[in-house]
Amino acid sequence: MLYPKKVKIKEVGPRDGLQNENVWIATEDKISWINQLSRTGLSYIEITSFVHPKWIPALRDAIDVAKGINREKGVTYAALVPNQKGLENALKGGIDEACVFMSASETHNRKNINKSTADTLHILKQVNDDAKKANLTTRAYLSTVFGCPYEKDVPLEQVIRLSEALFEFGISELSLGDTIGAANPVQVEIVLEALLARFPAKQIALHFHDTRGTALANMVTALQMGITVFDGSAGGLGGCPYAPGSSGNAATEDIVYMLEQMDIKTNVKLDKLLSAAKWIEEKMGKQLPSRNLKVFKSS
Ligand code: HMG
Ligand code: MG
Repeated sequence: MLYPKKVKIKEVGPRDGLQNENVWIATEDKISWINQLSRTGLSYIEITSFVHPKWIPALRDAIDVAKGINREKGVTYAALVPNQKGLENALKGGIDEACVFMSASETHNRKNINKSTADTLHILKQVNDDAKKANLTTRAYLSTVFGCPYEKDVPLEQVIRLSEALFEFGISELSLGDTIGAANPVQVEIVLEALLARFPAKQIALHFHDTRGTALANMVTALQMGITVFDGSAGGLGGCPYAPGSSGNAATEDIVYMLEQMDIKTNVKLDKLLSAAKWIEEKMGKQLPSRNLKVFKSS
């Protein structure tokens, strides 16, 4: 079996992890957590979201967070940007990469960003163009690729059509979202076979939520198919507020543990990452889903 020699992990905990939480994490605590994550060897952190504060109150301090963090050399600081207004604020905060996002299913797209997918594509194209003019790189998320909380099955043709549209306007990477953590390895193989016939593996990332415990199994399948970029959330914190019942991404420390044991390099220092996960767990005041964090706390 051929596995890649190294993998890039994109930490989305400060955004995907915190966006769904009712507990208010103070701005200075968010900043402190991101600074801790910056010192773990991670080379990419999605720090916040420049969305409407009424839609995602937990990240209403996005500009202050972006302005307040220490920028470590070699770390890319990214944020979600849904539209022009979001980009304006993101530029005030100063980020390296703008992550645009939409869903493969019409209903989730409307519930999440209040637009049809056709209208969203026009908006995201403009955001992508303007972000590039401002010297930012861009990444796109396509959510509900493996299932939608409202429509259940999502036709593969829809995933292909929207992926093509996003690549056509020049995004550098597409992260395929298993928003509700419903995917299984066979499905991952089917979706990737279709997409890898059209786009290079190095431009595809995978974003698995671990709602049903299949995230790491899905990741192994994706690794075998040549994918080398995966999103994770420290502690396994999070979920999408517009995907009822969804839980957090695969815990970054569970991903790092598995990959390093498979002799796939991540460059992430597991002990530092575990300390950062434990720190946010204490702030959240509840046990987080990460398996490696449980082991760490009991050792
Ligand atoms: P809307 O109400 O349709 O916006 O919301 P609008 O363009 O009609 O504007 C209405 C008002 O909102 C205006 O203000 C705008 O200025 C303001 P007014 O003139 O009435 O005073 N506005 C904004 N304010 C601040 N920041 C902005 C912004 N945009 C407009 N960016 C909008 C549309 C997209 C803003 C809203 O639906 C929204 O914020 N949605 C965010 C939902 C979200 O963040 N969901 C979670 C992230 S996605 C996810 O988790 C999935 C992912 O992890 C991958 C996966 O797991 O699959 C990425
Ligand atoms: Mg997500």
